[in-house]
Formats: sequence, C-alpha cells, structure tokens
Amino acid sequence: MSRVRVVEVGPRDGLQNEPTAVPTAVKLELIARLAAAGLRWIEPTAFVSPRWVPQMADHAELLAALEQAPGMHYPVLVPNLQGLERALEAGAREIAVFTAASESFTRRNINCGIDESLARFAPVIARAGALDIPVRGYVSCALGCPYEGAIAPAAVARVAERLAALGCAEISLGDTIGTGTPGQARAMVETVAERVPMARLAAHFHDTYGQALANLHAVIEAGIRTVDASVAGLGGCPYARGASGNVATEEVVYMLHGLGFDTGVDLPALIETARWIGERLGRPPSRLARALTPAD
Ligand code: HMG
Ligand code: MG
Repeated sequence: MSRVRVVEVGPRDGLQNEPTAVPTAVKLELIARLAAAGLRWIEPTAFVSPRWVPQMADHAELLAALEQAPGMHYPVLVPNLQGLERALEAGAREIAVFTAASESFTRRNINCGIDESLARFAPVIARAGALDIPVRGYVSCALGCPYEGAIAPAAVARVAERLAALGCAEISLGDTIGTGTPGQARAMVETVAERVPMARLAAHFHDTYGQALANLHAVIEAGIRTVDASVAGLGGCPYARGASGNVATEEVVYMLHGLGFDTGVDLPALIETARWIGERLGRPPSRLARALTPAD
C-alpha cells in the first residue's frame, strides 16, 4: 500500500492565532495525544518573537519539556539565527524556515523582503546542516496573497528552488489564505516540480474557502506524498486576515484511507484528540468528528 506522510501542524499553526494563550501543559498533552494517535511528524512551536506571536512565547519551555522519543520528528519554526540558537538550546532536532512567494506578505509576516529572508536563512540552514539537523522550507502564498491577489506559479517555483538550493530537504507549499482551487493547485505543484523534485514537496493547504480537501486530492493525483494538516482544523495565520485553519487532519486521514493510502494514523484516536482539543478551546468539531460522535 502506498504511504502518504501526514505532518501535523496544529500545535504551531493551529494555536498561533488563538485569541487567548493556551497553557503549555495543554499544548504538551495535545502533542502527546497526537503522537499516541500515530502521527510521527508534529510541529510543536515556533521560535519567533513573542512580541509578534505571543501564543508561541512558551517555545523554549515547551520544547525542553517535550520528550522526543526515537522515530518522532518535531520540527520547529525558526525565522533567523537568534531563533535557531534558542531552538537548539531547548533541544530542537529539526527546524523549518519560512518565507513566501509574495513580497508584501513576507514583509508583514517577518518584516523583510523575500531576498532578505533568504539571505537570513542561508547561515541558519548552513549551521543546521553542520549539525545534521534537517531543514524544511515553507513558501507561503503559493496560491494567492491577501495583499497582492493572484501569485504566478513561476514565482512560487523560483522561491522553492532557492530554498532547496540553500539546503532545505523539503519544501512545503502553503495556500495560506485557502483561496486556491484544484486545477490551480495542481498546476502550481506541477510547475514547482519542474525545479524541485515532487518527492521533496509538501502541500500545506488552509481551508478558508472550503477547498482544501479537493486541492489535496488534486495534488496527490499529481504525485504529492507529504501533506500538512491541523487537528480539528485549528488555526490561521496572524498576518493573513481571514485565514482559517489548515485542513482538519482527521478529514485528510479519512480521505487518504478511502483512497487506499496508508498513513500510520489511528483515525478513532485522532478524532478523540480533535474532540478533546476542540472542547478545551471552545471550537466546533470538524464535520467528520461531528459525524462520528456517538449520539448521547
Ligand atoms: P524584527 O522586529 O524585524 O526583528 O522581527 P529584529 O531582528 O529587528 O529584532 C527586534 C526584536 O525582536 C529584538 O528584541 C530581538 O531580540 C527580537 P528587542 O531588542 O527589541 O527586545 N527577536 C526575537 N525574539 C525571539 N525570537 C526570535 C527573534 N528575532 C528577533 N527569533 C521577526 C523579525 C522574524 C523576529 C518577526 O517578524 C517574527 O517573529 N515574525 C514571526 C511571524 C510568524 O511567526 N508568523 C506565523 C508563522 S508563518 C505561517 O503561519 C505560514 C505557514 O503556516 C505556511 C502557510 O500557511 O503559508 C508556515
Ligand atoms: Mg499555515
């Protein structure tokens, strides 16, 4: 059976936009439950400025408290060398850098242009490489930008190629505001794959316009085998107005199993985790979790 690797981004992408800070203990329990449900790649936090994203201010405490069992991958977001140093001190073994295919979004998100962001990442990726720390690179606004509108697939491919050339092992293509549709998603991924091999690409689709599952299906047909998702569909990006959560992990896993892919994920345990975190945050369950909740 072929496998699709699911990267759970809920504890970072899902919680970074919560109106009130989620206690570190709740985040740790969420991560433990996700791992128990079979997820092996979980993005736990971001070593970004607490002034910019207060919800991730407990990054060092959280990562230091996280037991990193063999076989588990916990990549943390790092925007610059300062973030890398702090992440390493707290025990990071994998990192992710992040920029965008849109100049305006990059400025709003990380306070610099695309070229400058890549120049900042070069020493971060080099230092990580010297320590054998795998680096993932994100390209946001791959299917549209909240400030610039449509983004050309060629622009996404150029940034993806530059991240790969700097040493990113994997490039995750973000539909940050969820406006993409399946034909567009497939065309974008195929354009990027002309520069970076498909096996090194991941799809990171937000569900703001209800298109994420359809978009994922389209890019899986095109050959994508790594998919980012957020349990219970939590989240959004604080620098992309209207961005809702990533596609709900439980809905992705349900679709993938239906398509005959192996994910290694225990769907009932994941749905239970989605219900658990939804109750803690006062969030409605995903459609799937609602459908599979036993009647009282
Ligand atoms: P800046 O203000 O330009 O940074 O922010 P600076 O280097 O000028 O430093 C200013 C202050 O920030 C200094 O403190 C630094 O020490 C501090 P002060 O001297 O004023 O007290 N600082 C830091 N503190 C902690 N950790 C750091 C750090 N770096 C500097 N790493 C910066 C630039 C990148 C730091 C800022 O813009 C930032 O933190 N941005 C983060 C934005 C963010 O986290 N966005 C959400 C994640 S991206 C996303 O969600 C998209 C994704 O999901 C994919 C998709 O959906 O498309 C990945
Ligand atoms: Mg995101």
